[in-house]
Amino acid sequence: MLIDTFGRVATDLRVSLTDRCNLRCTYCMPEEGLQWLAKPDLLTDDEIVRLIRIAVTQLGITEVRFTGGEPLLRPGLVGIVERCAALEPRPQMSLTTNGIGLKRTAQALKAAGLDRVNVSLDTLRPDVFKTLTRRDRHRDVLEGMAAAREAGLTPVKVNSVLMPGLNDDEAPDLLAWAVENDYELRFIEQMPLDAQHGWKRDGMITAGDILQSLRTRFTLTEEGQEERGSAPAERWIVDGGPHTVGVIASVTRPFCAACDRTRLTADGQVRTCLFATEETDLRAALRSDGEDGEDGSDETIARIWKQAMWGKKAGSGLDDPSFLQPSRPMSAIGG
Ligand code: GTP
Ligand code: 5AD
Ligand code: SF4
Repeated sequence: MLIDTFGRVATDLRVSLTDRCNLRCTYCMPEEGLQWLAKPDLLTDDEIVRLIRIAVTQLGITEVRFTGGEPLLRPGLVGIVERCAALEPRPQMSLTTNGIGLKRTAQALKAAGLDRVNVSLDTLRPDVFKTLTRRDRHRDVLEGMAAAREAGLTPVKVNSVLMPGLNDDEAPDLLAWAVENDYELRFIEQMPLDAQHGWKRDGMITAGDILQSLRTRFTLTEEGQEERGSAPAERWIVDGGPHTVGVIASVTRPFCAACDRTRLTADGQVRTCLFATEETDLRAALRSDGEDGEDGSDETIARIWKQAMWGKKAGSGLDDPSFLQPSRPMSAIGG
C-alpha cells in the first residue's frame, strides 16, 4: 500500500509517457518548446509496463492514467494499454490528451482496453484556439473527441482553462456545447506550473468567477461530497440533470487532504504531488545491475516507491509565503 504520514492512501497512478507535445498552450510552454528528455533517459515500454505491474500487484494501485506532454505522441501507447489490460487485477485505465490524433487511434485504444479519455479544449472559436495553443488544430480536436465518444471511451471529459482576455467569456457557451454533445465539462483554475513561470494569482480566473458566469445562463445544484470522493473536480448538476459541470479549483479550493495520487515521470521518477519539489528515482533501480547493492527486484522497487510516498507533504504549499514552483513544468509532470 502507498500510504503517507497523513494517512492518505494512493490508489491512482498517473504515468507521463512523454514530455513532448504538438501544441504550445500559452499557460504551459513557450512557443519554441522546451529541452525535451533524451531518448535513453525515457523509460522503455517494457519498463513502464513493469512499473505498472508492480504498482497494481504489490502497491494497491487500481486506476492508471496515461498523460504527457501529449501521450498520443508515444508510439507504443496502444501496446502499453493492451499489456496493462492483461494485468491481474486489471486496473481502470484512462488517458488525458489534447485530442490531436484521437480520431485515428480511438478505436484501437478502446480495443486495447482503455476505458475512457479526458480531452483538453479551452475554446469553441478556432481563432482563439490558434492564439491559445499557437497551432491551427481546432478541428482535429473536435473530431478526436467525437471519435472517442463513438468508440465508447466514455464519459468523455473535457478540460478547459480560462485565460483572462482570451476565452474567459466562453464558460456558458462551452457548457451549452458540452451538454449538447454529451461531454462532461470541467473548468480548471490555472496553476503555477508553466515553464515560463508567468502565473500570477491576481490575474487568474477563479472557480468563483466561473460559477458566477455559468449561473447567468444555467441553474447549478451542487453535488454532495460523497459523490466527489477524492476527485479533484467539484461538480454541479446543470438545469436539474442529467449533465454535470465540474470545477477543479486547485488554487482557491484545494483538495489535497483527499489526494489519492502518485505520479511517474517519463524518465522514471516518482512524484508524490503535482507540486512536489523533490523526486525519487525508480529508473536507476530498474536498470541496476546489482553492483551498487540495489538488486532491481520488484520488491526493491516497491520498497523505494513506498518510501517516496511516505514523504508526501500535506498539500501543494501554494498558500505558503515560501512557495516554490517545481522545476519540472506541467508538460513533464503530466497534469
Ligand atoms: P478524472 O476526473 O478521474 O478523469 O481525473 P482528473 O480530473 O484527475 O484528470 P485530468 O488528467 O483530466 O486532470 C484534470 C486537471 O486536474 C489537470 O489540470 C490536473 O493537473 C489536475 N489534477 C490532477 N490531479 C491533481 C492533483 O493531485 N492535484 C491537483 N492540484 N490537481 C490535479
Ligand atoms: N494550469 C491548469 N491546468 C493546466 N493544464 C496544463 N497546464 C495547466 C496549468 N498551468 C491542463 C491542460 C490539460 C490538463 C492535464 O491540465 O489543459 O487539460
Ligand atoms: Fe501540450 Fe497539454 Fe501543455 Fe497544451 S497543456 S502544451 S496540450 S502538454
